[in-house]
Amino acid sequence: MLEKTRKMAVNFQNTVFLESSVVNAVAHRLNWRAEVLIARNPDAIAGKRILDLASHDGRFSYAALACGARHVVGVEGRERHVQSARRNLQVAGCNDDAYEFVAGDLVEFLRGVKSGEFDTIFCFGVFSHLIEQVDVLREIRRIAPGHFILDTFVAKEKRNLLERVRNYRVNSWVDVTQLGKKRRRYGMPRFIRELRAVTTDSAYRTGTLVFLYENAEADGATIRKSGLMAWATPSLVDMLFDYYGFESRMLDWSRQGISDWTDLLDYRKRDRETWIARLPGQLHSSQ
Ligand SMILES: C[S@@+](CC[C@H](N)C(=O)[O-])C[C@H]1O[C@@H](n2cnc3c(N)ncnc32)[C@H](O)[C@@H]1O
Repeated sequence: MLEKTRKMAVNFQNTVFLESSVVNAVAHRLNWRAEVLIARNPDAIAGKRILDLASHDGRFSYAALACGARHVVGVEGRERHVQSARRNLQVAGCNDDAYEFVAGDLVEFLRGVKSGEFDTIFCFGVFSHLIEQVDVLREIRRIAPGHFILDTFVAKEKRNLLERVRNYRVNSWVDVTQLGKKRRRYGMPRFIRELRAVTTDSAYRTGTLVFLYENAEADGATIRKSGLMAWATPSLVDMLFDYYGFESRMLDWSRQGISDWTDLLDYRKRDRETWIARLPGQLHSSQ
């Protein structure tokens, strides 16, 4: 099979990371995630100062160092995972000076980060366990890393035709009442043209945050006792990237060369999506 012959940049087989977590700690999955999220983005990794949000047991901080990162700071809300991460990177033979793990709420932590302190920020597997998606992206914009890599469970996209039509009607009304534009008259051709724009034009996108509960006792869950979390639709993520001035591209997991999708079905079914976002004009270490 393709995976068996392909050399992965990071191999989690027989490492401590398979024992230190019950959260999807499967070598095949970790190898592919490290490959696609990290190894194939050398511009974002080699020689860079990385901030790993929700670093868990250090799995992707380790992968970043293995792929040539200069330094990694991991922030993790559960103290026991922080302890595991420190132990794991030591066992894995990483240089002590190359990493640091901090226990804390990543939303609070981001507020204390200085602009330019990190070249690349990872946000893997935690965006959907928060309710502060807008705050997080605003803070990351302020910190202004060269790259921001987001890998997250997403809500299913909603066409929201009725909301789009309502938005169109509200904007048309504002055009007339507040901007002094002429009231539009509709013939059938114009109606069809406008309807097409409303259904397809990105100006009429809608983004949604779906709020749900999870069991906050679980090792991979939100750290908030209530268990409240929110899943963003991909459109919302795109809209926020646009709003905060990121250039972003969504990765196509079906084109990464994966033939054995065992333990990766969330990517195949697009329940999970990955974006590589950049802030144009940011110059950071070793660029
Ligand atoms: C599903 S795991 C993802 C771990 C890893 N980043 C990955 O992608 O495999 C989510 C992690 O986020 C941590 N977490 C959840 N909410 C957090 C918060 N507000 N601040 C810091 N860590 C948080 C959890 O303790 C858990 O370790």
